[in-house]
Amino acid sequence: MTAPTPDPVTAWRRLAAGCVLLDGFHALKHAVRFGAEVPVAVTADRRAALALADELAPDVRDTLAELLTEVPERVYLSLVPRPHPTAVAALAVRPSRAAHLEKLAHAPRTAPVVVLDNPRNLGNAGAVIRLAAGFGATGVVTTGTLDPWHPTVVRGGAGLHFATAVERLAVDELPAGPLFALDPEGDDIRGVKLPDDAVLAFGSERSGLSAVLRARTDHLLSLPMRPQVSSYNLATSVAMTLYHWSATGGATSS
Ligand SMILES: C[S@@+](CC[C@H](N)C(=O)[O-])C[C@H]1O[C@@H](n2cnc3c(N)ncnc32)[C@H](O)[C@@H]1O
Repeated sequence: MTAPTPDPVTAWRRLAAGCVLLDGFHALKHAVRFGAEVPVAVTADRRAALALADELAPDVRDTLAELLTEVPERVYLSLVPRPHPTAVAALAVRPSRAAHLEKLAHAPRTAPVVVLDNPRNLGNAGAVIRLAAGFGATGVVTTGTLDPWHPTVVRGGAGLHFATAVERLAVDELPAGPLFALDPEGDDIRGVKLPDDAVLAFGSERSGLSAVLRARTDHLLSLPMRPQVSSYNLATSVAMTLYHWSATGGATSS
């Protein structure tokens, strides 16, 4: 005799503490596309969620239809910290650190690793993970205390944590490879071709690159910026640098 399948709310309450919250349709769609294991997914409006899937994600529509269970709106509201306009939420299994470390260390590397040195802003970290996924970067590593799998970061990353390797490491644990650190005092990036095995490091929003990261740096590079402007936002700096890598011969993801 097989055990009865637990109802989604019971399963949610049992799994929530150890899983990653996928907040909204787009986060669930991306996570499923990039192979996340999703043990439970709920919606307060299954018909609307599947209409979105028909329109925006026909490739994973059938999987979403299997995963999504409709629950009353008050139940959905009791499961999430704040409601999402699509009234969809799911829990995903966090990928193993060991698998990520293997991916980050794999050689030869075909796309850079992005390092955020002690980032402070959860929204910036999420935006960077979304960029890294879009450009096919090998991974995003953070140093310092911010958890790159914090629910606000996952929300900012639109579920794209599952499309790249996201981990927190100490500076002395960073993957091997030439380290290019971005700083307004560096050499102009426009004269440099970034190799596919580059480690691209960016400083904290508050204080820039740490001394320990600077000590590990091989090349200090700057983004073009008019005098009297102090610096760019962290995520936009990552965007420009990854674009420069892709535009100067970096691998293109299909
Ligand atoms: C908001 S800035 C940090 C500003 C900080 N107050 C400082 O003292 O550097 C965050 C990070 O974005 C990158 N960045 C911002 N503007 C840049 C520029 N013009 N050239 C290169 N990197 C830049 C650097 O990695 C920097 O550490």
